[in-house]
Amino acid sequence: MKITIGSDHRAVALKEEVKLVLKEFDNIEVKDVGTFGTDAVDYPDIAEKVCADVTSGRADRGIVLCGTGLGISIASNKIKGIRCALCGDVYSARMSREHNNANVLAMGGRVTGFGPAGEIVRVWITTEFAGGRHERRVNKIMALEEK
Ligand code: RB5
Repeated sequence: MKITIGSDHRAVALKEEVKLVLKEFDNIEVKDVGTFGTDAVDYPDIAEKVCADVTSGRADRGIVLCGTGLGISIASNKIKGIRCALCGDVYSARMSREHNNANVLAMGGRVTGFGPAGEIVRVWITTEFAGGRHERRVNKIMALEEK
């Protein structure tokens, strides 16, 4: 599985932690689009880079991080083809995959600690979309992009 990850300046440390967690998986290839330091960057620019990889197929899924996870998840969900789930707990992470087929995970570097974030990532990576009745609903979400 190919994953593109990115964060603004408020979540660089969480990004490094998430990359360590992703190293636990043999079959995951990670691309980091930054940012890499403390200089302020605008989270919509990071969302655009990560989501471009997902919508083009260069990545199977994306992970986006900012201070709260709010701005970068809102920005990501403006991009056609993206279903970004802001998760602060493992149950939401699982449901975002099973029910919503989320292709981008968002978290907040100033909200979610490294331990919980690691568990969220592990569950989000390993949970498959359940399909069935959820497929119809996800299709309706995607159809909203055309209205
Ligand atoms: C950046 O100061 C901050 O606004 C950003 O990291 C995020 O929390 C936005 O939602």
